[in-house]
Amino acid sequence: MEDKNVLQTLLGRKRKTFLPFAVPHITQAEIDEVVDTLHSGWLTTGAKTKRFESEFARFVNAPYAVAVNSATAAMHLALDALGVGEHDEVIVPVYTFTATAEVVVYCRARPVFVDVDPVTCNLDPAQLEQHITPRTRAIIVVHIAGLPAEMDEILTIAQAHALPVIEDAAHAFPATYRGQMVGSISDMTAFSFYATKTLSTGEGGMLTTANSDYAQRASMMALHGISRDAWKRYKSEGSWYYEVLQAGYKYNMTDIAASLGLHQLARSQWLLQRRRAIAQRYTEAFSQWPELETPPNPAHVEHAWHLYILRLQLERLAITRDAFIQALTEARIGASVHFIPLHLHPFYRDSYHLAPHDFPVAFQTYQRAISLPLYPGMTDEDVDDVIFAIEQIVTTYKK
Ligand SMILES: Cc1ncc(COP(=O)(O)O)c(C=O)c1O
Repeated sequence: MEDKNVLQTLLGRKRKTFLPFAVPHITQAEIDEVVDTLHSGWLTTGAKTKRFESEFARFVNAPYAVAVNSATAAMHLALDALGVGEHDEVIVPVYTFTATAEVVVYCRARPVFVDVDPVTCNLDPAQLEQHITPRTRAIIVVHIAGLPAEMDEILTIAQAHALPVIEDAAHAFPATYRGQMVGSISDMTAFSFYATKTLSTGEGGMLTTANSDYAQRASMMALHGISRDAWKRYKSEGSWYYEVLQAGYKYNMTDIAASLGLHQLARSQWLLQRRRAIAQRYTEAFSQWPELETPPNPAHVEHAWHLYILRLQLERLAITRDAFIQALTEARIGASVHFIPLHLHPFYRDSYHLAPHDFPVAFQTYQRAISLPLYPGMTDEDVDDVIFAIEQIVTTYKK
């Protein structure tokens, strides 16, 4: 490899400040609502959380929504509602964040990993059936980057085996699949409102479902397993008396977080439009380069564009993915990698005796994936800078 200095190439147009990888988009409306909550004397789960639940449910066309403190909590509650326990298996795509599989471990069940589709990076329906055994209790589907997975195929297989489906929609708000809102498609859907997500409450999550039993169980288990409307016990209309019905969890959302959520939800179409416009600009620029593979955006879905995962055609480049990210850092552009497939992490590798090539698509995708900055607050100049830096690096290192 020729020793070329990307930094030199980029120096002519180096950013004055570092462009962070992700920044939440907070307006005065969110700030005012949080301040109102702080003045109200009621900080934890209360009327604002309940309002956020009902507005979110309406938005995604789900009969029930349970607000919690993370998508991880939402997925754990979903598995609990299904009664998943020891000796059970739950199918999980291997190309995801640890939360998707760790909740299975919380239930003392076993995550059974499935490789992903090479184009979408979502669970490959063609590989699903061969992983179903008599112990399988549920299938978790992840919508990577905000691109909905092939739900028709997945639901057909699930229904043939009478298996419930949980969607990990941590990346997929708002998104649609064949005209249906994600959140209203399968048995239960978990959303994340973590700081980098498309709707952010700092930390937060939501479980949506059309099943009233699941919703009731999840609300109860999210607050210590105590009898319904436990959150009202300090209010005038509530009562000091409560009963613990199960050993539950402490997963409830605070009204401070819900204050953010209410306004993020109201602005969610604008936030999506801005993300979509940035993604379109990236794709227009990068699809000119055979050294780069742009993310798919099929017509039958509405992509939430939480992440823009660019894939390097490494055989056409004299630079590794890690060095590429280093060059971006030198150009003062933040980048990340989504995801380190779960079978490469020591816990999953050693617990389930997994080797890198057990999931070849996930392994190869990981080695060439770079997530670029993508958030509504980016200016057109920020987007130009990212495109310029990527094109300079590719020009410098293309074979
Ligand atoms: C695919 C996926 N699932 C679940 C989560 C967990 O979300 P939370 O932090 O809200 O628990 C994340 C977080 O980044 C994620 O990327």
